[in-house]
Amino acid sequence: SVTLVVLQEPEIVAAEAAARIAAEIRAQPDAVLGLATGRTPLTVYARLGAMHRETGLSFRQVTSFNLDEYRGLGPSDPTSFAAYMQRELFGRVDICADRAHLPDGLMPPQQAAERYEAMIRAAGGIGLQLLGIGNNGHIAFNEPGSDFASRTREVTLSEATRNANAPDFPPGALLPETALTMGIGTILEARELLLLAIGARKADALANALDKPPSPDCPASALQLHPRVTVLCDRAAARRL
Ligand code: GLP
Repeated sequence: SVTLVVLQEPEIVAAEAAARIAAEIRAQPDAVLGLATGRTPLTVYARLGAMHRETGLSFRQVTSFNLDEYRGLGPSDPTSFAAYMQRELFGRVDICADRAHLPDGLMPPQQAAERYEAMIRAAGGIGLQLLGIGNNGHIAFNEPGSDFASRTREVTLSEATRNANAPDFPPGALLPETALTMGIGTILEARELLLLAIGARKADALANALDKPPSPDCPASALQLHPRVTVLCDRAAARRL
């Protein structure tokens, strides 16, 4: 079931998300977290970094698995999600590098996907999974049409998603055409999901995800099938609910 929490300001959404992640780590220092990239979690990660510095919140025993990575990009490429995570979170806290995982965008894709699923299983599965939502309702890089039972795999990015993410790349750069992403089935196996949505751009996607019967037309609507989901959003994103 989905618990919807509408908050006044984007900053409060980020503060609440950071507080929930911190509470998970304090309750279970060896928590297994699922992490997301994109603009939405930036403030969450900045706050977690501040909590580490100021309150001693420790990621030393935490394991993390990110949702996705561009195909063909490695950690040394500044536009990879691995580089993003290093900049925005891993470099600000005391997480162990060998426990902070992303799909390997440089490995042959099928091998990378199978290895990732096996690593998640070996870690005992994901406890709390952080999620954003694409303008078209995608979660991770599961574009509309993705099977709800899908697993980690290589996917072709939609034109809409490539346009939305183009500002993250240098002007004139060619965007990757494919990515490795956890599947919707993979995501639904996390014990708890925390979806963040900020801004009017997300209002239609959020309404499709929460107020219509679950359908692969809106990948995020699969969340309705999960027993423990919290959606944190600001008023602009909640406008069509
Ligand atoms: C990206 C990511 C998703 C993310 C979404 C929204 O393409 N693969 O994991 O949730 O798009 O991004 P943003 O938070 O920048 O709006």
